[in-house]
Amino acid sequence: MPSSTYLAGAVTVLAAVFALRRILNTKNYRFGLVQPTEERVLILGASSGLGRTLAKQYAARGAKVCAVARRSEPLAELAQECGDGCLPFVADLTDVADMEKLRELLLRQWGGLDTLHICAGVSAVQPVMALAGIKSGNEEDPDAGSVRSATEIAGRAVQGNFFGPLTAALMFIPMLKRTSPSPAILLVSSVAAIVPAPTRGLYAATKAASLLLFQSLAIEHPEIAFTCVLPATIEGNFRSSAVDAHLSQKIDETNKKGLKLEYVASRCADAVDEGLRGNIVLPWMPYAIAHHLYYILPSFIEKQARKKYNFTA
Ligand SMILES: NC(=O)c1ccc[n+]([C@@H]2O[C@H](COP(=O)([O-])OP(=O)(O)OC[C@H]3O[C@@H](n4cnc5c(N)ncnc54)[C@H](OP(=O)(O)O)[C@@H]3O)[C@@H](O)[C@H]2O)c1
Repeated sequence: MPSSTYLAGAVTVLAAVFALRRILNTKNYRFGLVQPTEERVLILGASSGLGRTLAKQYAARGAKVCAVARRSEPLAELAQECGDGCLPFVADLTDVADMEKLRELLLRQWGGLDTLHICAGVSAVQPVMALAGIKSGNEEDPDAGSVRSATEIAGRAVQGNFFGPLTAALMFIPMLKRTSPSPAILLVSSVAAIVPAPTRGLYAATKAASLLLFQSLAIEHPEIAFTCVLPATIEGNFRSSAVDAHLSQKIDETNKKGLKLEYVASRCADAVDEGLRGNIVLPWMPYAIAHHLYYILPSFIEKQARKKYNFTA
């Protein structure tokens, strides 16, 4: 049988498995327990991009929304656009004292929490060796200072993409379980966490770390519906947050070609409404397939990834 027939067969089987998984993982009960206009929603990372769009969608349907980020100006603008339902709170997700104040505020104002969306994240865009100043084609050994500087940059990615979500989980899981009839947590991860790509090593590794952390939390806390959304590139300025931005020249360009913010935000809200558990890969094709194909044909995925990123080894 030709290999294209095997591939078509494998794709069909995977598609059937994913369709079945979606049916089995959907509980569809949440609106019976949490009315959309009563829902208390916390969005971490809401001053721009996906979190901001999500906050506006929740406010438009009458939910109580607490929008959190470090920059106060865009948060104040968001609160004005959203009206009374929006509670802005300036805080750093990785700062335990900030998160404790936030928890106290939510208990005081709302008496608890139903839904937590963790949208905050930081990008990284350099090949791993470039973090230590080694360019492609250069086989020199980096000195200790360069390696140290690379690990410091990596620490910022770990801080933003792993310690941040970890702090949020530790701070809010008990309160969600205690105060909501149908608690839900959605982590915005990335396709990069499951499909390797050149120049995204740091980003991918740190997003994968929090993804696995939340998948484990889902097993430890079955009362909470955990959803992880793994989008491909989204329109916007995410790359300007890169922890290694100082090593690159053209990073400020707004990406206009990615997934639409409204689309990704409504997929996040819908997933929580439906009680959908597990990973949602956006778009499913080709990335969910690529993830599984990596186990069968790693060199094929590696070649495609180099091509997509125009990367020469
Ligand atoms: N854009 C993409 O192509 C893409 C693709 C796949 C997945 N994702 C994921 O999607 C999520 C949202 O990305 P986006 O495109 O919306 O990026 P964005 O526009 O840069 O938004 C990131 C948000 O997170 C906040 N934030 C970052 N670190 C924070 C911290 N320590 N404490 C509090 N808030 C913090 C930022 O606000 P402040 O700076 O004001 O704190 C901002 O509101 C990220 O988790 C990212 O990994 C993005």
